[in-house]
Amino acid sequence: MNAVPPLSPSISAPRLILGIDTSCDDTGVGVVELLPSGSVRVRANRIWSQQVHARYGGVMPELASREHVERIDEIMGAALEEAGLSVQDIGAVAATSGPGLVGALLVGLMYGKGVAQALNVPFFAAHHLEGHIFAAASEEELQAPYLALVVSGGHTHLFDVPEEGKYVLVGATRDDAAGEAFDKIARLAGLGYPGGPAISEAATRGDPDAVPFKEPLQGQKGFEFSFSGLKTAALLAHKAGAKPEDLAASFERAAVRFLVKTTLRAAHAYGRGTVVVSGGVAANRALRAAFAATDLHAVFPGAGLNTDNGAMIALAGAAALHAGRSPSALDAGAEAYAPLATPLAEA
Ligand SMILES: Nc1ncnc2c1ncn2[C@@H]1O[C@H](COP(=O)(O)OP(=O)(O)OP(=O)(O)O)[C@@H](O)[C@H]1O
Ligand SMILES: [Mg+2]
Repeated sequence: MNAVPPLSPSISAPRLILGIDTSCDDTGVGVVELLPSGSVRVRANRIWSQQVHARYGGVMPELASREHVERIDEIMGAALEEAGLSVQDIGAVAATSGPGLVGALLVGLMYGKGVAQALNVPFFAAHHLEGHIFAAASEEELQAPYLALVVSGGHTHLFDVPEEGKYVLVGATRDDAAGEAFDKIARLAGLGYPGGPAISEAATRGDPDAVPFKEPLQGQKGFEFSFSGLKTAALLAHKAGAKPEDLAASFERAAVRFLVKTTLRAAHAYGRGTVVVSGGVAANRALRAAFAATDLHAVFPGAGLNTDNGAMIALAGAAALHAGRSPSALDAGAEAYAPLATPLAEA
């Protein structure tokens, strides 16, 4: 496909932004209203969570792509209905271009481009992690500088955001992502899937002192994360007969303390007073309570915006539009691997 010149935002005065995320196994479509002041309001957020993968114990990429194709029209219709809009009301479109499963990403990306082209409105190819971060803009305006901790099924990334649109990777996990550790330990303890909510629920009935977990990467100077040690300790405790709810309570407390302590050290080192915490694990009540007990101002996404969704992509699109970023070319491709940040050494 030849390069298509970007559409100018001045073609229309967009205020209603459609957001689409099909990066993995959720078909998400959301609509966000952007006011001239820059404040935003989520008008709709509809998600189809694919069940087809359950029997395989993991996401099957080709099945995910096919199901996105089958569902996206229906979810788009539901989102417009929830917002009380028709498609002609949409003034800009944002769709995730990466990172994610390429076949799955392509469905939402092509669909989004098609809608933008048909309506002759600006199109923004969005970064999935920037979407997770901007999910918190549903609660309050994000004003750089701040730290952003993305804790999801595939990422545990801590960014410094010195100015709008600039991301410096301060630390990341050396092994499992935080959500992945919740999922694996829940499976080990027979608590079901997804593991995050299952561990959280079981933890309310367990003793957090029952299983002694050692703090990972103790004494490190940097701000990295690691969950493999906690996972091994959980396996040993399980084999030694620890009760699932005790394992859940002890692991949740250890994981939360480690995430909060590392973020707090980074905030002090970088002189940041605000941290945005997002991604599926940001739904965790113990994590929210632990951040609330620090001297940081912690901002979390609103209900339904922690795990993958389309509204967070619309919020990232709204931020790009408000900041005057140029729309993307219509030949923007899907990227399985797409780093958001400048690594620390190059910043
Ligand atoms: N209450 C909770 N406590 C802890 N973890 C949770 C909770 N709710 C959801 N999670 C975890 O969040 C993860 C899913 O989050 P999300 O949808 O943001 O990740 P993903 O899209 O799969 O990964 P990525 O965004 O990195 O590609 C799962 O691992 C799930 O267990
Ligand atoms: Mg995600």
